[in-house]
Amino acid sequence: MAHLKIPKAYKDLFTPSRYKVYYGGRGSAKSESYARALLIQGMQEKHLILCTREYQVSIQDSVHRLLAATIANEGLDHEYEVLQSTIRHRSNGTEFIFKGLKHNITEIKGLQGVTRVWAEEAENISDRSWEVLIPTIRAAGSEIWVSFNCKNPNDPTYVRFVKNAPEDAIVKKVSWRDNPFFPDVLRKEMEALQKTDNEGYQHIWEGEFDTRRSGAVYAKQIAKAQSDGRITRVPYDPSSEVFTAWDLGWADSTAIWWLQWVGRELRWLEYYENTGEQLDHYAQIVKSKNYNYMLNGHYLPHDGGQGNIRGDSVGKQLTSMGIKNQILTRETDINPGIDLLRQTISFSCFDAQGCKEGLLALENYAYKWDEDRGVFKSKPDHNWTSHAADAARYAAIAAGKLKCKFATIPVNKPDPRNHGISWMAG
Ligand SMILES: Nc1ncnc2c1ncn2[C@@H]1O[C@H](COP(=O)(O)OP(=O)(O)OP(=O)(O)O)[C@@H](O)[C@H]1O
Ligand SMILES: [Mg+2]
Repeated sequence: MAHLKIPKAYKDLFTPSRYKVYYGGRGSAKSESYARALLIQGMQEKHLILCTREYQVSIQDSVHRLLAATIANEGLDHEYEVLQSTIRHRSNGTEFIFKGLKHNITEIKGLQGVTRVWAEEAENISDRSWEVLIPTIRAAGSEIWVSFNCKNPNDPTYVRFVKNAPEDAIVKKVSWRDNPFFPDVLRKEMEALQKTDNEGYQHIWEGEFDTRRSGAVYAKQIAKAQSDGRITRVPYDPSSEVFTAWDLGWADSTAIWWLQWVGRELRWLEYYENTGEQLDHYAQIVKSKNYNYMLNGHYLPHDGGQGNIRGDSVGKQLTSMGIKNQILTRETDINPGIDLLRQTISFSCFDAQGCKEGLLALENYAYKWDEDRGVFKSKPDHNWTSHAADAARYAAIAAGKLKCKFATIPVNKPDPRNHGISWMAG
C-alpha cells in the first residue's frame, strides 16, 4: 500500500473518535493532512465521505481539487478514480462527495450513510447548519472532522467544538510549527508580517482571534461590551416596558430585537430572524412573548409605511394583527445611524443567550474593501449580517427617542445645585 507522510500532530486522525477538531493558524498542514488521512482510510475500508463547508457554489469551491492533486502526486491513481463531481475508489466502494451546507438542508438530511465528514473552513459554519448536519451523521462509527482558522471567540464552530468541546472530541490547536513541510514562500510571508504587523501575525499565523477586523463596523464596541461583562445573563425587568425594532425583509430575512430601558441602561433582551415567513408569523412570535409591551412600541423602518401591490402597508397589517407600531423616518444616509448605534452599544447590555445570533451578525457586519479604488466602500456589505445590523440601528434610533421622552418627564424635586433660589433662614 502507498506510504503517505502526515505530520505527527495529526496522528489522532487515526484514533476512533466522534469528533476530530484541528484549528489554528494558516499553513499548519490541516488540509493536506485531512486529505491524506481520508484517502488512506478510504483505501482501508469502504467509506462514504462528505466533504462539506458552509458555502459551496460549485465544485471549484470544495476540496475536490486538493484531493485530486494529492491522488496524482502520491501516485494513487490505481486506487482512486477522479470524476467531475465525485472521487471513487476503484474497487472497495469508497466515495467522496462534495456539498455546501447553507441552502442545502434537505439534501444534507438525506445523507444518512455518511461515515466520515470533513467540514473545511468550518469557521464559517453556522449553528443552524451544525444542527442539521450532526444528527444526520448517524452510521455506526461515523466521525465528523472539523478544520478551521480562528476568527472570533463567538463563532459558533469555536464555541461548539473548542469552548464547549463535546466529551468524545479530539481537539487540537495547530500552527506552522506543526507542519514539517511548511514551505519557504509561506515562511517568508510569515516573517515579513511578524516584523510589520504583530496583531495580524498573531491572528494569521499563530491562530489567535482577529483583533483587527478591518472594516468591521461594530466589532470594537461589541468586544468592549464583552470585556466589560455587559454580554451576560440580562434579566427582564417587568416594571419597564419592552419595545421592539424590526428590519423588514421583502424577499429577504426579517429581523426583530427586543429591548427595554431600565434606568439609564439599555437592555437588549432577545433577537429573532427568519426568512420565507408571512407577516402573521412575526406578529405571532412577538405576541407569544409575555413581555410588558410599550403602547405603540414596535418600531418599523420607513418601508413599513409603504403598501405592496396587494394593499395595506406592513404597519397597517401589523396593527390589525395587534402589533401597534410606529414608522421611523427614512434615513438618507445610514452613517449617522451607525454612529448612534456605536454610542448606544457603549451603555447597553445584551442577554448572551437571547441575543446570540444577532450579536454574531453585529460583530461580523463590515464595510467591504473596494479593490479598484483601494478604500472601504461607503456602505457596509449586504449579506447575512445586514438584517440584524439594520434592525439594531433602528433599535438605537427608537431607544434615543424613548430616552428623550423619559428625560422630559417632570420631576417634582428641586435641583439641589440650583443656587438661583435662596431660602432665607428664619
Ligand atoms: N503531507 C504533506 N506533504 C507535502 N507537503 C505538505 C504536507 N502537508 C503540508 N504540506 C505543505 O504545507 C502547506 C500548508 O499546508 P495546508 O495547506 O494543509 O495548511 P492548512 O493548515 O490547511 O493552511 P490554511 O489554514 O491556510 O488552509 C501546503 O501548501 C504544502 O506545501
Ligand atoms: Mg487549509
